[in-house]
Parts: sequence; structure tokens; C-alpha cells
Amino acid sequence: MRIEVRAATLDDVEGIVAVAVQAWEKGFRGIVPAEIDAREAWAPDRLRARLRDDGVARAVAEVGGRIVGFVTFGASRDRDAGRRTGEIWALNVHPDLWRHGVGRALVQHALDELRRLRFKEVSLWTLADSERARAFYAACGFRPDGAEQRRRALGSPLEVRYRLGLRPLTPQFAPKALKNR
Ligand SMILES: CC(C)(COP(=O)(O)OP(=O)(O)OC[C@H]1O[C@@H](n2cnc3c(N)ncnc32)[C@H](O)[C@@H]1OP(=O)(O)O)[C@@H](O)C(=O)NCCC(=O)NCCS
Repeated sequence: MRIEVRAATLDDVEGIVAVAVQAWEKGFRGIVPAEIDAREAWAPDRLRARLRDDGVARAVAEVGGRIVGFVTFGASRDRDAGRRTGEIWALNVHPDLWRHGVGRALVQHALDELRRLRFKEVSLWTLADSERARAFYAACGFRPDGAEQRRRALGSPLEVRYRLGLRPLTPQFAPKALKNR
């Protein structure tokens, strides 16, 4: 399966909303209270306004020309974060495509971009009771750093913070013929 990751544009709003609502309903059911409405949280007009915000980078993953996932990232919003701490703000994959490597491809893209922007580490918040998300981020190399929060906009479920250090870009190895001289 070929997964293509590219920067998102305003034309992608409908595709992103479709993914977000399905991923939210299947991924967060029973963790986020039912009165928090995914369709309201991901209303196309609100998303369009967010897509115009220059401080947030976003990318979509496509399979066969269909948007199947997206990620948003930028500088950390946390009060205790240093200037070189980036954050993955949101990540969703359509449930039809779970466990096919789409999430990993989107995280890899976000990490590459954040490294390019000279961030030294990346943090993210995820729901403490989402074993799927926690297993996924652990598989991507993130580890919990002990911080916890609750946000009223999400119905106040417990969230835990994960963190990953970004290694600097590996310098290109010299070709063998040159190295042996
Ligand atoms: C979490 C999420 C983004 C993962 O996306 P995905 O495309 O299914 O993940 P990948 O296929 O790239 O998985 C990479 C690795 O993560 C781990 N992983 C992913 N889902 C897992 C699960 N349900 N249980 C255990 N490990 C899991 C595995 O090690 C997996 O590698 P493998 O399939 O080769 O074993 C997706 O399930 C999702 O959108 N969930 C709902 C929204 C959400 O929770 N977002 C993130 C928190 S904000």
C-alpha cells in the first residue's frame, strides 16, 4: 500500500473532517463524554480558520488519492516548555486504515519537519485511557514524562504527556572509495 504524505491545503477540509469524526467516534468512544460532539469540534468552518493559522503546520496522508489521515504540529503550547520543544497537536487516521502504517508515516513527517525547524524534542498529550494511542506512541519511541492535565473542552478526561528527543540530522557518510584513502 502506497501512503503519500503532503502538506494540507484548504481544499482538504472535507477530507480531514471525515477522518477526524470517524477516528474520534471510534477511538475516543467511552473515554471522552458522549456530550462532546465530534462534528461540532471538527466543524468545517472552525477547521478552515485553524488551517489559516500560520503557527500550525499540518499534513495529510493519502492512499489512492483519498485522505486517510492527518497530523497538526508546531511549537509546544505548554507553559513549562522551552523554545526548542515542538508538539504534535493532533493526529487522526481513518479507522478503515488502522494498523497499516499511516499513523507512523504521519508522525515521521511531523518529526522530520520539526527537526528541520530546529526543535530539539517533541511532546504531545494523549488520553490516559486510550490504550491504542498509548501503544502507538510508545511504538514511535515516545515515553510518558509524568505530566497530566484535564481540559474542559474535551469533557475533562485525564490526559498524559509523552516526549521524544530529536536526534540531529545524521551527516552523510562519505562514499567508501573516499573513506579508505
Ligand atoms: C493512534 C492512531 C493514530 C494510530 O494510527 P495507525 O495508522 O493505526 O498506526 P500504525 O499502523 O502506523 O501503527 C504503528 C505501530 O503502533 C502500534 N499500534 C498501533 N495501533 C495499535 C493498537 N491498537 N494496539 C497496539 N499497538 C498499536 C503498533 O506497534 C504499530 O505497528 P505494527 O502495526 O507494525 O505492529 C489511530 O489509531 C487513530 O487515529 N486513533 C484515534 C485517534 C487517536 O487516538 N489519535 C492519537 C491520540 S490524540
